[in-house]
Amino acid sequence: MTTPAHADTMEADTARLREMDARAAVIESTSRGSDGGQPTYEGLSGVVISASAICDVNGERGTLSYRGYDIGELACRATFEETAHLLWHGDLPSRQELDSLTARLTAERELNGAADLILSALPTHVEPMDALRTAVSSLTCNGTNGQDPGSMQEDQAICLVAKFPTIVARFYRRRHSLPPIAPRPDLSHAANFLYMVQGHEPTTLQAQTMDLAMLLMAEHGFNASTFAARVTAATLSDMYAAVTSAVGTLKGPLHGGANEQAMRMMLEIGEVANVAPYIDDALARKQRIMGFGHRVYRHSADPRAAYLRASLFDLCAESGDFHFYELATTIAEVVHAKKGLYPNVDFYAAPVLYLLGIPLELFVTVFAVSRVPGWTAHVMEQYANNKLIRPLSTYVGPENRVYCPIDDRGH
Ligand code: CMC
Repeated sequence: MTTPAHADTMEADTARLREMDARAAVIESTSRGSDGGQPTYEGLSGVVISASAICDVNGERGTLSYRGYDIGELACRATFEETAHLLWHGDLPSRQELDSLTARLTAERELNGAADLILSALPTHVEPMDALRTAVSSLTCNGTNGQDPGSMQEDQAICLVAKFPTIVARFYRRRHSLPPIAPRPDLSHAANFLYMVQGHEPTTLQAQTMDLAMLLMAEHGFNASTFAARVTAATLSDMYAAVTSAVGTLKGPLHGGANEQAMRMMLEIGEVANVAPYIDDALARKQRIMGFGHRVYRHSADPRAAYLRASLFDLCAESGDFHFYELATTIAEVVHAKKGLYPNVDFYAAPVLYLLGIPLELFVTVFAVSRVPGWTAHVMEQYANNKLIRPLSTYVGPENRVYCPIDDRGH
């Protein structure tokens, strides 16, 4: 099933995905020794670099909790806004605190002059993640007005969470010559995002599903983008700079970029009958199956995947068309049987976002919109107990070389 919004953007996506594939191939080859053997270094795998009270990602048990709440306690019960408060402050909000946070988020949704100006100046061939990264870095123009650091950090986190959806929706619509849609203060964070992208109000199920998907992606410990944010924050740079680093890191196909590629794969496979031959062929060519495998959940399923799989079922039930549920569950079974890999959060998020009508080109940005509460919580935690993050490397290059004047170099 390809919706008109998806069909419009698929051609433009192809060139971009080719570039992403090429980048992934380079990454793959450079992470291995010159003989193509095992990686020399393990990308900090298994290395604990800090203590954190925000999130527990337990790869052994296959569990995830935010501030001590198992993800199953929060999924389908808490909202994205409540979760943001939980991540920032350590406890779920009271009614009064939630009302206050919701009002502040709603008031901050519109873009300031600089971000708006930058988005309207960017050429439309720019990737949405690049537009997001560029616009986010301009939010620092808001100034700090001499506030105390604690309230300033919370204000900046609220500003970032509130404005991410508007930036993404504004640039997407401009890219497709569609008029901008102003944020609706009466809609939840998730529903308003869908509304600003699509121009119509989502159904209750769609709004709830988007909220759940965003909650599940809101935080995940020291993943690559959060780590990047903390490295930047640890130099005592500002929160906007830290989140800009995170956006740049999330973009890669081995991190946030996997959801889009997983969806592309499902569309390419097309029918349940094609699943086994497609996966056999991909594995024979040593290709990575996007949306499978995880650095931490190595021997257990990603706990977020089950909730997204259930959401996929619900969306299919609402439309009466179970094509993507059957296709996705079959792919998951086949990949597990053949390679022992479990689906990660990106795998089921992909058809969920697709059925919510999110254009493929925006998939990674949805991950970014969802992850801002987590990034900003980590930046605040880093500031609260800061130590510059500065690892070492083993030098393996040439030594004791002697300077040669340029005309004598012979090349
Ligand atoms: N498809 C095929 N083989 C895989 C995959 C996959 N998706 N993931 C891991 N493997 C294989 C890999 O080829 C290697 O096999 P061998 O030992 O025979 O060479 C083995 O499993 C270990 O892989 P690794 O790359 O050393 O493991 P890692 O911890 O560095 O990789 C990962 C984790 C997420 C980068 C990897 O599983 C992957 O590339 N997955 C596909 C991309 C993806 O879905 N990313 C989203 C991750 S979840 C969201 C997030 O947190 O960002």
